[in-house]
Amino acid sequence: MKLLVTGGCGFIGSNFIRWALQAHPDVSVTNLDALTYAGNLENLKDVEGHARHRFVKGSVTDAAPVDGLAGVDAIVNFAAESHVDRSLYAPVDFARANVEGTLVLLEAARKHKVGRFLQVSTDEVYGSLPPEGVFTESTPLRPSSAYSASKAGADLLALAYHVTHGVPVVITRSSNNYGPYQYPEKFVPLFITNALEDKPCPVYGDGLQVRDWLHVVDNSRGIWAALEKGKAAEVYNIGGGNERPNLEVARAILKLVGKPESLLQTVKDRPGHDRRYALDARKAREELGWAPEVKFEDGLRETVAWYRANGEWVRRVKSGEYQKYYEKHYGGDRSTVQPFNR
Ligand code: TYD
Repeated sequence: MKLLVTGGCGFIGSNFIRWALQAHPDVSVTNLDALTYAGNLENLKDVEGHARHRFVKGSVTDAAPVDGLAGVDAIVNFAAESHVDRSLYAPVDFARANVEGTLVLLEAARKHKVGRFLQVSTDEVYGSLPPEGVFTESTPLRPSSAYSASKAGADLLALAYHVTHGVPVVITRSSNNYGPYQYPEKFVPLFITNALEDKPCPVYGDGLQVRDWLHVVDNSRGIWAALEKGKAAEVYNIGGGNERPNLEVARAILKLVGKPESLLQTVKDRPGHDRRYALDARKAREELGWAPEVKFEDGLRETVAWYRANGEWVRRVKSGEYQKYYEKHYGGDRSTVQPFNR
């Protein structure tokens, strides 16, 4: 099977490519990535020169490179701007990459009659949950941020392309991913890498927001299952079944790193911060035969060990652009930090 993977140098995309090459000897991957701040060729250093992996630098918003990649059996679209906090500052970048980029790919899929279009989406399109209840695939979309709204827009375009043009789209919506190679702007790697450097770990608001954690390899397996067995125009929730308040995850990270809880600092909350996400993944279990395999405690321990062992990777991605973003977001009115005393 010939796959076009977009955004394959990012966190989830690179883990998916590594996993697919290893698990499926008949798969070859063309990896189209624009190498923006979070896309990093180093994330795939171990498959550099692999006979079944070809890297092409280019953006999904640019029809020319996308069109030049005709002849694939399936497209798996990971390419996206994905950090909620960044969408506060540059919402147009999110609309461009996530909405326009998906549209360009859908057009290419239509034109070249691609056999499958897997749109990698997120539980954030559903909005926020109260303390009870879960998102199912038929929960209405109520995104809260420019990030999640742009992902919801992409999902709707994909489904529309099935109705109008018969493009065989399948959508996966996963819960929060964690694991190796995640850019350290996100909660888990930010807290791990800051703790390793004895830097404060910034907890938004009361720290009692809940996320449902999924190991990135479990997501890769879920995406693969949807690619192979998913029905056209269907959505599959890929949930880890590991609901945890942020504070609990933060404390577990500090314990694994071996640093004191005094590193936790409370900072001004994210505007529009979704309180809770939780996914009902029964459909993926029943129709795709998928279930998460990595226990959260084991996955988190291995993830901490990975960041500890890959100090050079961390040092490189935390330089340059990262510093600017960190200063902008955590400086100003988030810099008046207070110790967490809950
Ligand atoms: P994040 O990794 O940005 O993922 P998402 O917002 O897509 O769920 O954040 C996970 C949770 O951690 C979310 O509730 C926000 C919180 N958070 C902090 O408390 N401090 C931080 O510095 C960051 C980046 C996130």
